[in-house]
Amino acid sequence: MAIPDDVLLEIKYKNDIESIISPYVTLKRAGRNLKGLCPFHNEKTPSFTVYPENGSFYCFGCGAGGDIFTFTRLIENLDYIEAVRLLAERSGVNIPEGDYDNSIFNLKKKIYEINKEAARFYHAYLMSENGKWALDYLLGRGLTIQTIKHFGLGAAPSGWTTLTDYLTKKGYSVFELEQANISSKSSKTGKYFDRFRGRVMFPVIDIRGNVIAFSGRANPAEKDAAKYINSADTPVYKKSRNLFGINFAKNNCAERIILVEGNMDVISLHQAGFDNTVAPLGTAFTEEQAKLLSRYTKEIVVTLDSDTAGQKAVMRALETMKNSGMPIRVLVLPECKDPDEYIKKNGAARFKMLLDGAVSEIEYRLLRAADDIDLNEDNAKIKYLKKAAEILANTDSITSDFYASKLSEKYGVSKSTIVSEISRLRTKNFKTEQKKEIKQVINPKISQKEVNPERRLNVKAAAAEENLISVLMQHPDLYNEIDKLIKPEDMVTTLNREVFAAISELIKNNNMVDISLLGERFTPEQIGYIVSLQNSVNAGINAKKVINDCIAVILKERMLISGTKDENLSIEEWHTKIQNIINSKMGE
Ligand code: CTP
Ligand code: MN
Repeated sequence: MAIPDDVLLEIKYKNDIESIISPYVTLKRAGRNLKGLCPFHNEKTPSFTVYPENGSFYCFGCGAGGDIFTFTRLIENLDYIEAVRLLAERSGVNIPEGDYDNSIFNLKKKIYEINKEAARFYHAYLMSENGKWALDYLLGRGLTIQTIKHFGLGAAPSGWTTLTDYLTKKGYSVFELEQANISSKSSKTGKYFDRFRGRVMFPVIDIRGNVIAFSGRANPAEKDAAKYINSADTPVYKKSRNLFGINFAKNNCAERIILVEGNMDVISLHQAGFDNTVAPLGTAFTEEQAKLLSRYTKEIVVTLDSDTAGQKAVMRALETMKNSGMPIRVLVLPECKDPDEYIKKNGAARFKMLLDGAVSEIEYRLLRAADDIDLNEDNAKIKYLKKAAEILANTDSITSDFYASKLSEKYGVSKSTIVSEISRLRTKNFKTEQKKEIKQVINPKISQKEVNPERRLNVKAAAAEENLISVLMQHPDLYNEIDKLIKPEDMVTTLNREVFAAISELIKNNNMVDISLLGERFTPEQIGYIVSLQNSVNAGINAKKVINDCIAVILKERMLISGTKDENLSIEEWHTKIQNIINSKMGE
C-alpha cells in the first residue's frame, strides 16, 4: 500500500528543500537556484544544485539527485518509508495507519529495541556481583561511576547463551538477534550463541540517541583473547559512517572536534572535560566519517597514539580529510602512548595547552618528512628540502611563502631557490590535476549510465526518450498530444518506459508532475536520473517540434528492433513515413 499522494505533498510543502539541505551543505544563491559542495562525493568546486522552484536537487558531478525524501534517504542512510516518517514527524504531519511496506522498517525498529535491551542488560550485569571484574577494571582505569553510567558501559557474562536466552524469553526471534549481531549461529550445531562473552562492553550510540552497535574489550585476565570485538555492520550500523562518542560530541564541537584512536581515549577525555572527542571503531578513519564531522565542526584536531602505527594512521587520516575542505591540526603527544595516558599523567590543564598548540597539517607533514633524515648531513638537508618543497607545493602561496622563509633561515638555502622549486612542482601538480579533471569531464555521469544500462545498446533511442520525458515533465499540458502518438510500451529502454509510464500517470491523475510522488516506485539513483531530466535546460525550444522529432526517432528505432523496418528505405524516406504515421494519428 502506498502512502497517499496528498500526505506526501503536505510533507513536502511543510519541509522546504533549502531548510532540509542547508544543515548539511553550505548553499549559495546562483540565480534562481542554490549551489554548494556535494555531500555525496568529494569535490572542490560546487556542482551540487538545489532547485527551490520544484523542490529538487541534482549533483552534476556524481549524478545524485531527488527531492527532500531522496536527500534524507541518502544522507541519513534510511529507506524510503523511514525517510518519509522522519520528515513527517519533523513537520507534524500525520501518516494514516496502513500496511505500508514496513518489513525493513520493522526489522530496524526491532534491532534498535534489541540493542537497547542488550545495553541495559550489560549495564546491569556490570553493576551486579558477577560483573565485579569488569567494574574493577574500569575503575582501575580511572573512570568514575558517573562516567560509566554516562556512557552506559557494561559487561557481557561469560556463558554461551545468557543474553540470547534472556532476549528470546522477551519475545525476540533468533533471526532478529542474529540480524542485530547480538547472537551468532554455530555452523556446527545450528544453535545460536552470544556474540560477546566475558567482555567489557561499550555501546555505540548514534546522533539520534539510538544504540546501534557494541564494542567489547577482552577481560584483562584472559591474556589470549582478541583485545576488541566489534559489532559487524547490521541494518542499523555501518561502521564506516559512525564514530564513537558523536552522540555527546555533536552538542559541543562547533569550534573543534578531537579525533582519537580508541573508545577508552574518548571516554577518559570526556571525563576530563573534553566532550568534543570521537573515535572510529575498529577501522581506519573514512571519508564518510570526515563528511559526518564536517557537518558539525569547523576544525578537527587529530591525536592518535604516538607509536609508529598511530603516526601512520595520522598520515592516512590527513589524506582522507584532504578533500573535505576542513582545517586539520595534529597534536603529537610527548612521550606518551595515547591521550588517555597523557591526561592521567599530566592532567587536563596540560592537555588543554597541548591542544591549543596543536600544529597545523603542514607543520606536521614537514615534521614527519624529517623522520628518517639525519639533518646534520648536507646531503640529507638537501633531500629534506626537496621533500619539504613537495609538501609546500600543495598549499596556497601565502602558506608556502611563510614556510619557505623559515626553511631558508634554518638551512641556509636562499629563499628564492626554495620558492622557485615550489612553483616548479606546483605547475607539475597542476598539470596532473588538469588531466584528471579532463578525464572526469570526458566521462560524465558515470552513475547515469549505470542507472539506465540499456542506454549503451541504443543510444539514439535512449537520447530521444530522455528528451521526450524531459519536455513532457516541463510541459505537462502537452501530454494529450504526446499520448496520441506514443505509448510507454513504444519506448526502447526499460527504464525510460517505466519513467514515461509513471510521469504519464501522474499527469493523468494529478494534472501535474511532482517527483515526490515517485519515491516508492524508483530507487534513489533512478530518482536522481529523473530529476536530471526534469531540470535539463530546454529554454527557448519549440516543444512540439522536439516532441515530434523524438517520437520519430523512438518509433523508428523500435521498428528496427522489432524487425518491421523496410530495409530499402533511406533515412529521409523513413522520416517521411513515420511523419505520415504521426500526422495521420494527429488527425484522429
Ligand atoms: N581496536 C580494535 N581491535 C583490536 C585492537 C584495537 O578494534 N584488536 C580498536 C579499538 O576501537 C581501540 C582502538 O582500536 O579502541 C585503539 O586500540 P588500542 O590502543 O589497542 O586500544 P585502547 O582501548 O586504547 O587500549 P589501551 O587501553 O591499552 O590503550
Ligand atoms: Mn590506545
